[in-house]
Amino acid sequence: MAVIAVVGGQWGDEGKGRIIDLLAEKANIVARFSGGDNAGHTVVNPYGAFRLHLVPSGIFYPQVTCIIGNGVAINPAVLLEEIADLHKHGINTSRLFISDRAHLIMPYHILLDRLEEERRNKGAIGTTLRGIGPVFADKVARLGIRTGDLLDRDVFLSRLKSAVEFKNIVLTKVYQVSPLSLEEIYQQYCHYGEQLAPFIRETSSIIREGATKGELILLEGAQGTLLDPDFGTYPYVTSSSPLAGAGCIGAGLGPRGIDRVLGIFKAYDTRVGAGPMPTELKDKTGDLIREKAHEYGATTGRPRRCGWFDAVAGRFSVQINGLSDIALTHLDIYDGFPSIKICTAYKFKGEVLTSFPSDVATLESCQPIYEEVGGWQQSISGVRNLGKLPVAARKYMSRLEDLLSCPISLVSIGPDRRQIVSVRDLFD
Ligand code: IMO
Ligand code: MG
Repeated sequence: MAVIAVVGGQWGDEGKGRIIDLLAEKANIVARFSGGDNAGHTVVNPYGAFRLHLVPSGIFYPQVTCIIGNGVAINPAVLLEEIADLHKHGINTSRLFISDRAHLIMPYHILLDRLEEERRNKGAIGTTLRGIGPVFADKVARLGIRTGDLLDRDVFLSRLKSAVEFKNIVLTKVYQVSPLSLEEIYQQYCHYGEQLAPFIRETSSIIREGATKGELILLEGAQGTLLDPDFGTYPYVTSSSPLAGAGCIGAGLGPRGIDRVLGIFKAYDTRVGAGPMPTELKDKTGDLIREKAHEYGATTGRPRRCGWFDAVAGRFSVQINGLSDIALTHLDIYDGFPSIKICTAYKFKGEVLTSFPSDVATLESCQPIYEEVGGWQQSISGVRNLGKLPVAARKYMSRLEDLLSCPISLVSIGPDRRQIVSVRDLFD
């Protein structure tokens, strides 16, 4: 058994929840390590169809300890609603723990996320408006409030008081909107604190102890590599790191603690929000992918931008995460396509680029150079082993493996737990 980090290889929404739900069958611990409720992890299993924003996707197995790690930002209202919804479906949450170091999303974070987006006007990032940028900014500015603070009302009040005083200056003087009431926020969050107290504890030691015992631990990433604040399409990124390296810091493991890194990629690319996407298809093919795969945001309902697989960005993602394996999802969406394109390089000012540029201005001017491969004309959603996949589908997969220099270990061909083709054992 091992510690496996599971991360998004593209711009998010790759199917991380679906793969975690599958792998968690054998796991002891599943821990979220970054992001917040900007994540929307869709899981379809015998209990129903769920869109998890904060609770780890391993919650459906009674043997799995689920941890919301220190690297996650928590909106308590969203978390409590999610827990209540799980209870309604008969799911036990007594093995869910929340790190006492995780930061809290406060009402002013959500308000400021919207005000900042409005101020950016045409340059808006297209955030999920969940308060993510402001909460992580406060974390590094040492102004944040952590879940552990809720357990001591005096500590909480004093931290909240200094934060609200400062935020109200920004709200009234910079944005010229009404100030927020310290008393109201205090009462509301004390109430959340009472409800969350049984879940809050030091969690990194649970993970390290599990790792020492040789348990199977899954570190569940949120967002995708290209939304990373350092290596993504800055400034069109999120505000916490979705990379495998962040799995160590966001859960409490040392860099030698991760054994395998599984990158989730859709068979095509999608992006929601603003920022460059070289292979975006603003045509009927893009619409076809969107409708067939129902590519609408799980968190915001926004239509996702769809395009061909970008192997330049994909290769970068393999390198920056140190991927050992790939899970390819939504391969069935290509059923019936006469041919499929893969972007193998970019054309930039007459030059051919094979590595992912670090600045958005360059990326925005890049034209994709495509290679076209044959499609398959049958439905693959009932296939359960590699040999039964059409030759063209296997050729598509092996071309991606060559371009990305990483093996595909799992292929998903539908949302159901059984709709999976296992190519290599992830737990050997
Ligand atoms: P999962 O975990 C897709 C995008 C937003 C926006 C940018 C910044 O479901 O893959 P933020 O609210 O984080 O400040 O928004 O990041 N974004 C995601 N896109 N999937 C996600 O999560 C995302 N979380 C944030 O659309 O472009
Ligand atoms: Mg999402």
